[in-house]
Amino acid sequence: GVHPRLQKTIVLVGMMGAGKTAVGTALARALKVPFHDSDEEIVKAAQRSVAEIFERDGEPFFRARESEVIERLLTGTPGVVSTGGGAFMAEANREMIARLGISVWLKAELELLWNRVKNKTTRPLLRTADPKATLAGLIDKRYPVYALAQVAVEAEPGLSIEQMAQKVI
Ligand code: S3P
Repeated sequence: GVHPRLQKTIVLVGMMGAGKTAVGTALARALKVPFHDSDEEIVKAAQRSVAEIFERDGEPFFRARESEVIERLLTGTPGVVSTGGGAFMAEANREMIARLGISVWLKAELELLWNRVKNKTTRPLLRTADPKATLAGLIDKRYPVYALAQVAVEAEPGLSIEQMAQKVI
């Protein structure tokens, strides 16, 4: 059944590679509440990958769909929602999440993030000449904003996904 005490949806925010989708899935399972991933919802509706959407429709199109998806997920049954790394950067999204949900920043260091994303070519923002430097630049720009989340949970490389979910709880 549904978690009796969860009044608001838990929204995981943070960088690509922080583990939002993996930890969110485990968290939802532990709390026995529904799980949704904003990227996945956008891909399902658009019938193409995130990279294809960025290429063919542009990032502004992706961001507009992202806001719609987050709003829809926040107005449904309370559960766990993982967002794409850029979602919390938009003030309108932050306000919506503050009003209707509980924001949790999965905080991780550059080296941990880099280890997880370096062999994946699926992230359009990292298709640059020096993706590690791009990642570092995104960290500088985004961490002061992610810090506005209600809760911060440090992603430790030694912890399992289930242990990270327990840490969030
Ligand atoms: C993005 C992160 C991605 C995806 C898109 C843009 C970002 O999600 O939404 O590629 O701006 O950081 P993940 O954080 O799940 O990789």
